[in-house]
Amino acid sequence: MSIDYTDPNADVPPGVDFLNALEVDAWVAACEVDKPWRVPMRQRFADLLSALPNGATALEIGSGPGLLAECILEACPNIESYTLLDWSEHMLDLSKARLSRFHAAQFIQADFKQAYWRKQLSPPYSAVVAMQAVHEIRHKRHVPGFYRQVRDILEPGGVLAVCDGIPRDTSILWQTSLLMTVEEQLEALTFAGFANVQLESQLGATVFVTGRAPK
Ligand SMILES: C[S@@+](CC[C@H](N)C(=O)[O-])C[C@H]1O[C@@H](n2cnc3c(N)ncnc32)[C@H](O)[C@@H]1O
Repeated sequence: MSIDYTDPNADVPPGVDFLNALEVDAWVAACEVDKPWRVPMRQRFADLLSALPNGATALEIGSGPGLLAECILEACPNIESYTLLDWSEHMLDLSKARLSRFHAAQFIQADFKQAYWRKQLSPPYSAVVAMQAVHEIRHKRHVPGFYRQVRDILEPGGVLAVCDGIPRDTSILWQTSLLMTVEEQLEALTFAGFANVQLESQLGATVFVTGRAPK
């Protein structure tokens, strides 16, 4: 069913209800099937975080079933603590089962659209990562302010790494309200006060961007 609305400032309704266990299971079963970019993009995150010093701390936002966390924790013995944040209890249960062998993994249930979403966290973090999750803020106009909140929980020089989709059809309003172009991602990071803002990689309609918290 197509979404019919004409207000470019309206939040885009969610396509999947991640608070519903059946919808979560269906999403998880399908998420790797037609998205060949997910495996190489996970490896980009792992390469980035493996370069951090020993004792590094990481936070993942919208961590889902823990596939990115598993890839990073397998590749990065330098990560001392890795916190997975998601609002979906069922997603957190799936990730807890997947990551039970990693002592570094910690889990927090929180809604990153709420003003107090950082309350349970223990900043500062060496890295904050998000894969296919930033668009869950449901409108790109919220993203620069969100990135500013993330900057404030990073240590000086800490890295924010984001992988997300770009609009595939710029004539479709919901896509251009929800998804950000490369330029919009880089502008949002810059607006939020990040330095060394970069497009690291692009695979089809998916990009991997980074920024560093000021030193
Ligand atoms: C598209 S899935 C991606 C999951 C994971 N990052 C991956 O790539 O495998 C989006 C995730 O963001 C979570 N999410 C959506 N809205 C959220 C919110 N407001 N606060 C916290 N998590 C949220 C969902 O529960 C879901 O796990």
